[in-house]
Amino acid sequence: MKKTSTVFLLLAATVYFLSCVHERETSLDASLEDMISQRSATGSYHEFILPDGTDYAALPNQDPQNPVTAAKVELGRMLFFETGLGLEPKYEVSKVAYSCSSCHVPQRGFTAGRFQGIADGALGFGLSGEGRTKHPLYQGDEVDAQGARPLPVINTTFVTNALWSGAFGSFGANVGTEGVWAQDTLVQINFKGLFGLEANNERALIVHRQVVNKAVTDSLGYTAMFDAAFPDIPVSQRYTRQTAAFAIAAYFRTILTNEAPFQRWLKGQRPAMTDQQKRGAMLFFGKAGCVSCHNSPSLNSQPHQFFALGVKNLYQSKYQVFRTGPEDKRNIGRGGFTGQTEDMHKFKVPQLYNMKNIGFYFHGASKTSLREVVAYFNDGIPENPDVPFSQIAPQFRPLGMTNEEMDDLVEFLENGLYDPNLARYAPTQTMSGNCFPNNDPLSRVEMGCN
Ligand code: HEC
Ligand code: HEC
Repeated sequence: MKKTSTVFLLLAATVYFLSCVHERETSLDASLEDMISQRSATGSYHEFILPDGTDYAALPNQDPQNPVTAAKVELGRMLFFETGLGLEPKYEVSKVAYSCSSCHVPQRGFTAGRFQGIADGALGFGLSGEGRTKHPLYQGDEVDAQGARPLPVINTTFVTNALWSGAFGSFGANVGTEGVWAQDTLVQINFKGLFGLEANNERALIVHRQVVNKAVTDSLGYTAMFDAAFPDIPVSQRYTRQTAAFAIAAYFRTILTNEAPFQRWLKGQRPAMTDQQKRGAMLFFGKAGCVSCHNSPSLNSQPHQFFALGVKNLYQSKYQVFRTGPEDKRNIGRGGFTGQTEDMHKFKVPQLYNMKNIGFYFHGASKTSLREVVAYFNDGIPENPDVPFSQIAPQFRPLGMTNEEMDDLVEFLENGLYDPNLARYAPTQTMSGNCFPNNDPLSRVEMGCN
């Protein structure tokens, strides 16, 4: 008796709820559905729904050599934040003081919280990475830093080729580029036949001065987790940078911004976005033409595309930056990898979720707010005189948006595409028990670790 009435009540509540949702569908919602559907390859706005990170089978672009499993995700989630792997610093003082997440901080959309990330060779964290500065013991060129603003490692299940240049990964955009893979030790890894994330992460562990071997996994307490994650890999090859890279790649593929208002709207919760955000989305998929490049569920490009928007490089900024300058190959983007004239100054179309807290925009961090980014697109005037006009994307031209329209578009980018709960992807602690993302004395104080 009790059971039936509960079921009845639940049914009634569901019907009421559904009708409410339906009633609240406005003409703006209907126009937006039409607009997005027209712009989608399948003819349905549902195409822009991100997969659920717990439904591993639904995650696209998995490396067949590294299918996502729960054991790998759990291991990768810790290794990514594990300062205990920081065993090859330039100076002994920085031993176990940094991690991957020194430059990919969850609260900052998994970027550094500053224009340039620094791992080994820096001190401090501030509130969320902005307070990190060079260690006085290090010369500028001794720190671990790269000549571009870090890319966010969110929604990377839509990344087939890693970095702004797309240099990593043997497939996707890099089919046909085999001739340049021997050019340096960095991209030689493409001969291994790995996907972008797997190749990138293995190189990243080396570049960022981290060590993985049996002695390390034993001492930090990870050996059993490697055993659970890689039972089919012979013991002699099980505790390596390659398996660690695989685990981190599996973890990355599950980091998805599917609680953002736009995602909830796409899944049927019409009130999840404000009217202003909906008007901004209309511009994004319509008049402003953003979707012509940002065309995937993560709003990067599928397949990957590279364009020149003529923005300034990191060394051209007003900030003090390390290990970069006019000769840095990263300044020429895709061209720095392929060597092809037509690729010069072109950069990968990046994903657009959780941009609100990143603080520095474009590969050279030349903008500090999304309002400035939108104004740059609206003006359509390249800011970097070194980029030949012939390279500039033809879509980069004045858009004629009014101030009010720009406000709407900014609101869609800032809050419509903002998942407020990325912290769910970070561990509460790592096996070493060390402080993370950073473990230097100043960071420890600032982060309240001891
Ligand atoms: C010193 C700062 C720093 C550290 C430490 C760091 N990264 Fe990065 N990461 C960057 C920068 C900068 C880029 C973009 C570089 C470029 O594209 O030229 C990047 C890009 C990436 C990308 C490419 C994303 C995409 O969309 O193409 C992945 C994946 C990544 N990092 C993973 C890692 C992993 C895994 C580690 C640890 C092993 C790590 N990073 C440590 C700074 C850092
Ligand atoms: C021609 C293709 C193209 C179009 C059209 C386009 N973008 Fe982009 N977008 C890119 C590329 C390429 C980058 C990276 C450029 C760089 O940093 O050198 C980028 C970068 C961005 C960034 C900064 C991301 C980051 O990680 O720093 C934002 C935000 C952005 N675009 C939003 C938009 C909006 C809004 C529109 C529409 C007004 C738009 N884009 C139109 C190709 C495009």
